Amino acid sequence: MMWASCVLAIAIVADDVVLNVAGESGVSYAWRWIAIVIVPVMALIIVRQRLCEARRFRAVAIDAGRSPTSAAMYIDNGVVSPHVTEGPVKLYLDLVSRSVANLIYEDRPAWLLKSGRQYQIGETFDLPSRLSGRDQPTEALSMIGWKRLKQLQACTEQVVIEGIPGDFIELGVMRGGAAVLMRAVLKAHGCTDRRVFACDTFDYIPPALSTANSWWLSAVSRVLSAIPIKSWRRHLTKSIFSQFQKSFPASQNPCDEIVDITMWFMQHPETVPQLRGTSEAHVRSHFARFGLLDEQTVLLKGFFADTIPSAPITKLSVIRCDADTYESTSDALRLTYDKLSPGGYCIIDDYGYFTECQRAVDEFRAANKITEPIQTIDEFGVFWRKTL
Ligand SMILES: C[S@@+](CC[C@H](N)C(=O)[O-])C[C@H]1O[C@@H](n2cnc3c(N)ncnc32)[C@H](O)[C@@H]1O
Repeated sequence: MMWASCVLAIAIVADDVVLNVAGESGVSYAWRWIAIVIVPVMALIIVRQRLCEARRFRAVAIDAGRSPTSAAMYIDNGVVSPHVTEGPVKLYLDLVSRSVANLIYEDRPAWLLKSGRQYQIGETFDLPSRLSGRDQPTEALSMIGWKRLKQLQACTEQVVIEGIPGDFIELGVMRGGAAVLMRAVLKAHGCTDRRVFACDTFDYIPPALSTANSWWLSAVSRVLSAIPIKSWRRHLTKSIFSQFQKSFPASQNPCDEIVDITMWFMQHPETVPQLRGTSEAHVRSHFARFGLLDEQTVLLKGFFADTIPSAPITKLSVIRCDADTYESTSDALRLTYDKLSPGGYCIIDDYGYFTECQRAVDEFRAANKITEPIQTIDEFGVFWRKTL
């Protein structure tokens, strides 16, 4: 309403100026159209763009001025090392987990999920959100949070210790932090006969969306995303996924959660460039920073359906599926589950969040008569262990 009034006011003033400058008789219709339509729309776009930048600066400034998270808060939330007496393996893995969640430098999130599943711009690091994987870090190498990282560490260590055969695979790695931890587990246990497959399109933020210069796109998107009709929003989300979001296969039926987050990004385009660091070169660099980029780390670039069938995968002991949509989750399970050894783990990151992910898992389990109980990790993540 406020923006509509501004556009109208600018249109009236611009029209008035054109009439006054040129004199009513000599003004062509073209000039009046420019005054009434193009000038106000351009002004609106420029102002909104400046507002986006101002919001980003504000978040950075607030974060820079914040106090550190108190030591008591870490202790109260149980983020003390429970393994200090257990030796260097546990200590090393504990430090890797802290590093990939970036509890060390406490980066500001681009967004975080408030209660009621409302998104909010992240102005400062928020420990509870980071621990439960309810934020999208601007720097941390993983967005899955401390609890899901700890569960990943526990089950990858367990299959190694118990000798359950097979490689590890993560389907949907983004910046690669969880896969780095999987590789660190092999390193810590001196395990040289297993690999970590890290599968992704490595194109999470397509070039068209990766700079603030996509102003025309964001301006149009903002107008469209403001239309409060659900079917419209769903339709728009589908078009965005097929036109711009090349990192996921086209989604036939995006669930409400995907629609909501897509609309939120469209209304807050300043957050999009903050999701950087997901290209293949970045992910390789992230493994290398931990000294973990070697022949036991295998990056499979492309859609799962294109890369996994020809990959040299024969046996798996841990499958970690973190691919959000119905299509990607179905592909991930269909292409890997029959290779999971008895005693191996299947972890689904988004089961408790994206309803279409949950549908894909439930359908797959029913079709393949999987009866092992689903166990909950936190609000979103689940897993089951294949019967030995
Ligand atoms: C939520 S992110 C993964 C987060 C990551 N596991 C972490 O630790 O932060 C989802 C990722 O899945 C990838 N993805 C989704 N569907 C895919 C598909 N069918 N093929 C390849 N990559 C896919 C996206 O590119 C994106 O990087």
